[in-house]
Amino acid sequence: MAVSTSENLPARVTTRSLQKIRKDGGNISMLTAYDYPTAEVLDEAGIDILLVGDSLAMVVQGHDTTLSVTMDDMIYHAKMVGRAAKRSMVVVDLPFPEGQLEIMRSVEAGARVLKETTCHAVKLEGGAEQAKRIETIVTAGIPVMAHVGLRPQNIHVDGGYRVQRDLPTLIEDAKAAEQAGAFAVLVECVPSDVGQAITEAVKVPTIGIGAGPHMTGQVLVTHDMIGFNSGYLPSFVRQYSDVRTTIRDAAVAYRKSIDTGDFPTKQESFR
Ligand code: KIV
Repeated sequence: MAVSTSENLPARVTTRSLQKIRKDGGNISMLTAYDYPTAEVLDEAGIDILLVGDSLAMVVQGHDTTLSVTMDDMIYHAKMVGRAAKRSMVVVDLPFPEGQLEIMRSVEAGARVLKETTCHAVKLEGGAEQAKRIETIVTAGIPVMAHVGLRPQNIHVDGGYRVQRDLPTLIEDAKAAEQAGAFAVLVECVPSDVGQAITEAVKVPTIGIGAGPHMTGQVLVTHDMIGFNSGYLPSFVRQYSDVRTTIRDAAVAYRKSIDTGDFPTKQESFR
């Protein structure tokens, strides 16, 4: 069996290589993916981590919150993403309420991810109050990325999506998740100085979304980043493309070519 050392890191991004990036002062790129072709192109683009996020409820399934997506939905999409990713690590969200009910249910959900898909880890919302759960899942051999700050699965308790500013609680959450064995901590919607303080408080990689520049890595929802989302765009998103317009223009051109009889031509037909 080939043994990987720091000189001989495997091509696949792993919990170890992410830790090395943090130690060496590098940066980690992460995007969401929900299907094979998107995962394939993001993997080719060198994105370090693909997240099969429960945001699929909103950006793919058209719901208003992330709450409705099921574990079976997650597995269905994780299979496609895992199949496509050759280099990226693939992390799968534990959807509501797989990370809130009894701990062994979370272990079973995480085990489904490792057994039924070719993905590598799970993400779980919560910090200090989830420490025992994180520890138990990691002990079972399932890597966990913790998710602190704004927790979309908590939307109805919090009364909406808000910037999280309670520094002592956020630091406690990140530290508790690290101590419990989380290999990374995702931090959502906090002021930049809070993001920086969290990064300084832990040794594991921190991945920010709306958490400013002082993080080990950054994550965005791909549909937001490529302009394939007709809904609300948070102010922290940078839109790198306008895929919605590209697809719409192509569909309009296709419709017009059918209207005019221009498609299909002889070359586009069998003889
Ligand atoms: O589900 C998701 O897309 C997330 C984001 C915070 C990246 O968890």
